[in-house]
Amino acid sequence: MNNDRRKLLIAATTLYGGVGIASFATPFVSSFQPSTRALAIGAPVEVDISLLEPGSIVKVEWRGRAIMIVHRTVEMLETLSNVANQLSDPESQASVQPNYASNTHRSLKPEILVVEGVCTHLGCAPLPRFDVAPEDLGNDWRGGFYCPCHGSKFDLSGRVYSGVPAPTNLTVPPYAFLDDNRVIIGEDTVET
Ligand code: FES
Repeated sequence: MNNDRRKLLIAATTLYGGVGIASFATPFVSSFQPSTRALAIGAPVEVDISLLEPGSIVKVEWRGRAIMIVHRTVEMLETLSNVANQLSDPESQASVQPNYASNTHRSLKPEILVVEGVCTHLGCAPLPRFDVAPEDLGNDWRGGFYCPCHGSKFDLSGRVYSGVPAPTNLTVPPYAFLDDNRVIIGEDTVET
């Protein structure tokens, strides 16, 4: 693709720890942010994930939507099959994602999750809750995303739990890897 169209976001200062409730009050700082106009027209957003440690999350914005990128650990990936019987759409058949994310980990690379931070109920921002068995979410909680508005819960692939208001899994946007350290959001047919 035309490099001029790529907008680079430096993720180095935007990382959140993998444990506890990460606040998105100051979602990211970047050395160069796409212009408001570029974001409005949906320009792809390039993200440097070189400093995204296992167990951590970074949030960027694409087309006015929050996009969460999570570097999952081996232990986090192992939970995905363990919680499948508690999910509403474990195979993501009723949910929105590119074909290459129609798998259990809902991603191109198993360890890197790219998912919209927009609850599929009424659009609130789910919180990353990667802590296991916290008091407020119960002993069965194995980590995932929790929507504080009406209590919807999603696993570490953004798959929605049964019995909550959200009807479908969190949406996976189109994306691609430019190399091991760079992800481009909003475009999945790129020349590298
Ligand atoms: S908006 Fe998330 S549960 Fe209602």
